Amino acid sequence: MSREIGIGTLPDDAPLVPVQTACAQAVRVASVRHPCREHVAISLAADSFPASAPGQFLQLLCHATEDSAAQVHAWPAGAFPRISDPDFAGTQAYLRRPFSIADREDRGDETHLTVISRAVGVGTTWLDRLRAGDTVDITGPLGRGFDIPPAHVPVVLVGGGVGIPPLLYLTRVLHDRGHADATLIVGARTRDLLPVDLREEPPRDAAPAPCVRLPGEAPFASIVTSDDGSVGLRGLTTDALAAWAAQRGDAARGAVVMACGPDPMLRALARQTRALGMACQLCIERNMGCGLGTCLSCVVRVRAPLRPLGWRWALTCSDGPVFDRDALPDYD
Ligand SMILES: Cc1cc2nc3c(=O)[nH]c(=O)nc-3n(C[C@H](O)[C@H](O)[C@H](O)COP(=O)(O)OP(=O)(O)OC[C@H]3O[C@@H](n4cnc5c(N)ncnc54)[C@H](O)[C@@H]3O)c2cc1C
Ligand code: FES
Repeated sequence: MSREIGIGTLPDDAPLVPVQTACAQAVRVASVRHPCREHVAISLAADSFPASAPGQFLQLLCHATEDSAAQVHAWPAGAFPRISDPDFAGTQAYLRRPFSIADREDRGDETHLTVISRAVGVGTTWLDRLRAGDTVDITGPLGRGFDIPPAHVPVVLVGGGVGIPPLLYLTRVLHDRGHADATLIVGARTRDLLPVDLREEPPRDAAPAPCVRLPGEAPFASIVTSDDGSVGLRGLTTDALAAWAAQRGDAARGAVVMACGPDPMLRALARQTRALGMACQLCIERNMGCGLGTCLSCVVRVRAPLRPLGWRWALTCSDGPVFDRDALPDYD
């Protein structure tokens, strides 16, 4: 039995106000590297950072706080300002931007958090220019991460493009929790958009191989795909999952798929995993204004059988971004 409180669904024995700990702090950029031509991996050194889970994200203030000189904004009366437009934001990202935690390493009182960013606009272009020693203002960890299955359950992690970072952190946590049977499937349009470090050239035939360097040296095999065949299997991540399932036969039915990537990929995976009889968790992306559950910019429909329409709105930033596949009617 569960009861609904606001937009969330909690078990009966849950406290009325579930506590989630997040912090806001200015952190030092410890290092910057480029896992591929189009992405930058930024390691951030934070003090006493709260517990976090793969799938949770940080909100990054994508400009230097000392740059915050007064700016004048104007937009048509009665209309909404377009907050990403240069004429509103100038050369600065006005709102914080969400980024998945791509890795976490605790070293004494210091926590090293990694984010991997692809420059697509004003905020991510600012991140792209960061250097070791710079400072970034972060809030987090935010949202609900992946539910980690028991260690004996086979797991397949499927990531597409900028959806790959949270799965890298997930490999570290699965390894720490004693998982031995995990396979990472990562895909991108082309090699330059694949934000992982390769240990060796990935096979072209979807054979799982230790070709991706994983956080904490997690010893899991990976399958790499690219749309144009420039790296790994020419094809989609769903082709790689089909190959993995064919190789496992009936045993594939007991596995859990945990996925993050573009919506078309997540929809295809939802259908494919249902057909294969596999459980599936999806980490979805919506444009986020606050990341904290207050602005309602990130709504998604979730199933609610007791409601007249059979669904209700949930917030991707605080009820998600990870949802069970079967909770999301728009991903059927
Ligand atoms: C929970 C979550 C986790 C994310 N994790 C990562 C990550 O690990 N790495 C990464 O590179 N990106 C990630 N993103 C996407 C990232 O937040 C956006 O790329 C970023 O906000 C763009 O900011 P900008 O100022 O550079 O772009 P803007 O100047 O604001 O916009 C430039 C273009 O990017 C598009 N855009 C803006 N936000 C998003 C979004 N959320 N999804 C898709 N398109 C968007 C705009 O529509 C516009 O076309 C994540 C998004 C969410 C919601
Ligand atoms: S981003 Fe503001 S409510 Fe989700």
